[in-house]
Amino acid sequence: MSKPFNTHLSRRAFVSGSLAGAAAALTPVIPQAARAAPGLREFSLTAAEGQAALLSAPYPATNIWGYAGTVPGTEIRATQGDRLRITFTNDLPVETTVHWHGVRLPNAMDGVPGVTQEPVPPGNSFIYEFDAVDAGTFWYHPHVSTSQQLARGLYGALIIDEPDPIRVDRDITWMLDDWRLDGDAAVEGGFDAPGDISHAGRLGNIVTVNGIVAESFAVQSGERIRLRLVNTANARIFALNFEGHTPQIIALDGQPVAPHAPDDGLIVLGPSMRADLILDCTGAPGARMVLRDHAYRGNTFDLLQIVYADTPRRAAVPDWPVALPANPVSEPDLAVAARHEVVFSGGMMGRSVERQMGLEVSNSLLGRLRRDGDVWYLNGQAASGRGEDPVLTLTEGQSHIISMVNATAFHHPIHLHGHVFRVVSRNGVAAPRREWLDTILLAPAETAEIALVADNPGDWAFHCHVLEHVSGGMAGIIRVA
Ligand code: C2O
Ligand code: CU
Repeated sequence: MSKPFNTHLSRRAFVSGSLAGAAAALTPVIPQAARAAPGLREFSLTAAEGQAALLSAPYPATNIWGYAGTVPGTEIRATQGDRLRITFTNDLPVETTVHWHGVRLPNAMDGVPGVTQEPVPPGNSFIYEFDAVDAGTFWYHPHVSTSQQLARGLYGALIIDEPDPIRVDRDITWMLDDWRLDGDAAVEGGFDAPGDISHAGRLGNIVTVNGIVAESFAVQSGERIRLRLVNTANARIFALNFEGHTPQIIALDGQPVAPHAPDDGLIVLGPSMRADLILDCTGAPGARMVLRDHAYRGNTFDLLQIVYADTPRRAAVPDWPVALPANPVSEPDLAVAARHEVVFSGGMMGRSVERQMGLEVSNSLLGRLRRDGDVWYLNGQAASGRGEDPVLTLTEGQSHIISMVNATAFHHPIHLHGHVFRVVSRNGVAAPRREWLDTILLAPAETAEIALVADNPGDWAFHCHVLEHVSGGMAGIIRVA
């Protein structure tokens, strides 16, 4: 990966704590016992100001915005087939919405201001209600002033269990985030700084797992853990290596994938992306191993240490099956699919990438009204925020192939709401696992083809999940009609 702008982490300067307590509190072991019959599950969710001890003493707690005033917010958990009714209340001083990232739900429940609903003013409520069609690891976050509201801590996990989950010893969710804090552990202002918008986004200076700078994660030899990773950072890409372990990826963005070890031993997650891992604890009792991030060249850091108890759980890891049942996603028919193209352009050094790719995208903008602050473009158009023409219109019920061209010098995690898509190819090479995703990380100058059945009608947000890029125009609408 190219060296990004302003990414230096200073977490080693901070005193850090153990993940065990916080993680255990937030991510209970799933009981393997019988579950309630599918039905209506009601939740209440409040966005509020709060405080979080991201760093241990001597640093003070950080003022945050969070669901229930905590980071991460309340975990919402249900079983595939349930209907969720979430009564959301906005106790923040600003308007907001809730978007259910990766969930295939009716358009009116999608939480996009000016497109699917009006923002929820301070003191008001909104009821979100939808069926949990897919099992998997999802998350929720606001879609209003997203770059600021996420950076302040508004996010939570939405876990939909399979009716018959695979057997594991522990089922754990880690919400990975980075924060830009000042010397008093306060969230730095300066959201949507021009340099962040035009480069790699707002990268932080500390990294948290479930809301704390974690020192260690306790395991036992012979244990099998289902580890659900969620990248909630505004802009940071993670590329994690579990030293001494061979995790198997069993789902990406909540959707099952053929179990496989990651390429190059690295679990790569762009902003908003998820991976479900089977982590078999093959280390010896008493061992300590490092979980290290390699996303940014010259800037590796240790996320935490995996610390083995002196007593093993069992002599060897179990051989229980790990493959997940498929979700009910319609299979696109590539032979008859309609073809579309979206070219992403703009940003710092974008012109030279366009030239290198034989494109002159930005130059074709002549005649368009350019707003101040437009930095990024989809097919030559920057998001206006409201009532704009769709970037693409997909005929409902049909198969579609979208070719996406990243004619820029930066990575972009491109997210489509309301659907999941198959990755068909990258740079003209067939994708080996044809994974289903809701967000695809495009490298600079990379081209990818995705395919989907447009089976969910409505105007759907389609945007980069580097949230400062959204502020610079890297967003649009895909209309399914
Ligand atoms: Cu997770 Cu439109 O976003
Ligand atoms: Cu981007």
